[in-house]
Amino acid sequence: MQVSPSILTCDFTQLSSELAFVKQTGADMIHLDVMDGVFVPNLSFGPPVIERLRSVSDMFFDVHLMMQYPHRLIEAFANAGADLINFHVESDSPVEETLAAIRHFGKRAALTIKPKTPASAVFPYLDKVDMVLVMTVEPGFGGQKFMEDMMPKLSELRREITRRGLSVSLQVDGGISAQTAPIAAAAGADIAVVGSALFNAPDAAALVNEIHKLHTTDAEPSLV
Ligand code: DX5
Ligand code: ZN
Repeated sequence: MQVSPSILTCDFTQLSSELAFVKQTGADMIHLDVMDGVFVPNLSFGPPVIERLRSVSDMFFDVHLMMQYPHRLIEAFANAGADLINFHVESDSPVEETLAAIRHFGKRAALTIKPKTPASAVFPYLDKVDMVLVMTVEPGFGGQKFMEDMMPKLSELRREITRRGLSVSLQVDGGISAQTAPIAAAAGADIAVVGSALFNAPDAAALVNEIHKLHTTDAEPSLV
């Protein structure tokens, strides 16, 4: 299982050294949570911050847009240095057009579903995405409790991806730790977003290493 640390709970006064810290844990990519204060009841950062981070990091940028109108800023996030642009199927942007815009700028494309959204909401787009993210908390804040009842949805998606012979990564985000990552891997997830558990870990590299050893059921395509 791959690891994508979310910097939402890091020390924002020291972003450059926090990125260097993430890299030395051996993590595979870095998860950047963009919140617009409309789609979710919180605000974080946008293209100008990502552009600055790009200049101090060569890691793969996995950008999670929690935005009502993501299509308005696809070009800005692409130019800022995102490697993968991921938006919510529940947003008010046209899904096909937004995916096409992400492709147009040569970026990997992904779709996210919130806890109350069924897996079938992304079935029509599975052949047009590199990754699907299944939220295991309500989006908006780090440090929430992992929702184990999302596991059947993860398995349903993994089965559908396998049945159609597609190469789509399955990511989980929210409350992932050394205790919950194995549950998500067993249900079919191959990328774990880890926020507070990583930044609070006594040995973050050991946690990444532990998650790396988890084997995902069925296919294991690699994004990075
Ligand atoms: C939640 C964000 C997550 C969050 C993960 O809205 O999308 O990426 O920061 O943080 P933890 O791992 O603390 O749940
Ligand atoms: Zn996220």
